[in-house]
Amino acid sequence: MLTLHLADFSLEHFMEHYWQQKPVVIRQGFQNFEDLISPNDLAGLACEDEVESRLVFKKDGQWQAEVGPFESYTRFGKEGWTLVVQAVNHWSPEVAELVKPFAFIPKWRLDDVMISYATPGGGVGPHIDLYDVFICQGSGRRNWRVGAKGEHRQFAAHAALLHVDPFEPIIDVELLPGDILYIPPGFPHDGVTLEESMSFSVGFRAKSACDMLSGLADYVIDKELGKTLITDPKRPIHTHQGQINPPDFAMIKAHLQSMLDDNTLLADFAGSYLSKTKCALDLQALDEPLAPDDVASELQEQPLVRTGGLRCLYVDETVAQGVCYIEGERFAFGPACRDAVIALCDHDDLSPELLQSGLQDPEFARQLTEWVNAGFWYFQD
Ligand code: SIN
Ligand code: CO
Repeated sequence: MLTLHLADFSLEHFMEHYWQQKPVVIRQGFQNFEDLISPNDLAGLACEDEVESRLVFKKDGQWQAEVGPFESYTRFGKEGWTLVVQAVNHWSPEVAELVKPFAFIPKWRLDDVMISYATPGGGVGPHIDLYDVFICQGSGRRNWRVGAKGEHRQFAAHAALLHVDPFEPIIDVELLPGDILYIPPGFPHDGVTLEESMSFSVGFRAKSACDMLSGLADYVIDKELGKTLITDPKRPIHTHQGQINPPDFAMIKAHLQSMLDDNTLLADFAGSYLSKTKCALDLQALDEPLAPDDVASELQEQPLVRTGGLRCLYVDETVAQGVCYIEGERFAFGPACRDAVIALCDHDDLSPELLQSGLQDPEFARQLTEWVNAGFWYFQD
């Protein structure tokens, strides 16, 4: 189990003064840290179709980026390139462990664990991200420069690389294995590796109102909601035909607002929308499906482990009805299953004690079995 070690301040201090506000170096945040995956296995993952990856390098002084899957790396030589692989926590249980020390931030904010392997001189160039990231240094040393937030001109150094103009660093450090660099959104940064090195980036995403409204629109269309028309019986005589007058404007706004004020609708939308994964999951369906009794008895022997990257959420608004949201779907098991539903969402490893109220419910037990058979949760042995 990886434990986050903060020598200079408490976690409360970090959340109060750094999270979303300013970058900070956490020296030896992970003591005795070792790579959670080997460069070879990472390179192997980037050969798979379902895994998102890219390789960044310079050719004749010009930035280049190629997207995976890759067949071989020999043509890139021994220096000056970086392989970046997205959502490795979906494919490696060891890498998924890296999410656990960050459990002080909710899962709905989590994006994924991105890993980069860089050869000497490699880096993806100076850029700005829209997400919070904890860059955990694995093997090798890497120099990181972080600039202040502000007006920075961004430009396409390559069709797939949005870079930023040179910046004055407010942080200029060499990260050693186990060191962590936290960078909030909007701060330009540039990491150049000094020797062969691995970086493990735990990223957190936030949604814009635009993202969420577009998601809400898709949701209401899909569920055939919000079809009530605006009605205006006993409308007073309108004097300016071209005007949407203040009472009409207020009526239009109230009509839309009534949808946002529907807490059940919004909880169902938020849970479904935020539980969808961006990258593919490594779902290993069982060759020999289990029955609910098999799952219950196996649970007595070993924990049921959630597959890396699977997002399971609940909202107070609906959890009393035993509702949870998993991979974009809403599941309702009834009030008696409330505690099991909460456990399902809060814990990565499930014991029979945690699931007790659900295991007694035939529908919950059936659905759990279906999930196990489909590979959403699995028994390790
Ligand atoms: C990297 O790990 O190479 C890039 C990480 C980042 O700067 O976002
Ligand atoms: Co970045």
